[in-house]
Amino acid sequence: PQNHALIVAAGRGERSGLGLPKQYALIRGLPMVRHSAVKFLEHPDISKLWVVIQAGQEDQLLDALEELNNYEIVMGGATRQDSVKNGLSAIAAAGGAKNVLIHDAARPFLSQMMIDRLLASLEHESGVIPVLPVVDTTINIIDRYLEQALDRDALWRVQTPQAFNFNKLLKAHDLSSAEFDATDDAQIFKAAGNQVAIVEGDEALKKYTTAADFDQLSEKNMIQIR
Ligand code: CTP
Ligand code: MG
Repeated sequence: PQNHALIVAAGRGERSGLGLPKQYALIRGLPMVRHSAVKFLEHPDISKLWVVIQAGQEDQLLDALEELNNYEIVMGGATRQDSVKNGLSAIAAAGGAKNVLIHDAARPFLSQMMIDRLLASLEHESGVIPVLPVVDTTINIIDRYLEQALDRDALWRVQTPQAFNFNKLLKAHDLSSAEFDATDDAQIFKAAGNQVAIVEGDEALKKYTTAADFDQLSEKNMIQIR
C-alpha cells in the first residue's frame, strides 16, 4: 500500500451552465478530467488512481481516459462527501493505501510540482492542503448591507489535491455525519481531531465552477463543448 490518488468527478456541473457534466468538457482539446488523471498517472510516487463518477457515465469516462491504464472506476454519491466516501471504501476493500491524494476533476491544471510538494509534507504530517491568500477586501454582509470587513490576513483559499494518511482519513469520514455538509476533506479530517498542515497553493489549480469561469476559457479558445 503506497500513495493513491482519488479524483472526484461525479458532480453535475449545474453552476457551469454548460448543459453537460463539466468534467467531460474539452479543455485544450482534452476532456477536463483527463488533465489531472494524466498528471497523477505520470507521477512516479503515485501507485494507483481511482476515479469516482456518476452511474451511467462509464462510457464517457472510458472515452475521456482512452489509452490510459492503472486506474479504477468507482460510483459516486449525491454529495461530494458521499463520492469521496465511496472512493475511500473502494480503496479499503482493495487492501487500502498508505496515503491518499483527493482531487477535484474541476481543477484540471495540476502540476507534478504540486504533487511533490504535498508528498514531501506528508513525510512529517498526516494531512496537508494547498492554500492561497485572499487578495480582495473580504466582508460580512447582513441583510444585503455591508456589516464589517474581515481580517484578510487570517483568511485563506483552499484548493485540492488534499493529501492524507489513508487510515486516518477513512476513520474521519466514518465518524462524520452527512449533516456536517463539509465542502472538502480537510474539514472532516480536522473535525475528527487531526491536524491539517498547509503548503503554498497554485493559482493554476483554480476550480472551474461558474459559467463565467468557462467563458474565460472559451475567450482563450481553450474549451469546446461536444
Ligand atoms: N463531485 C462529486 N460528486 C458529487 C458532487 C461533486 O464527485 N456528488 C465532484 C465534482 O465532479 C467536482 C468536485 O466534486 O470535480 C467539486 O465539486 P463542484 O465544483 O461543486 O462540481 P459540481 O458539483 O459538478 O458542480 P455544481 O455544484 O455546480 O453542480
Ligand atoms: Mg457541487
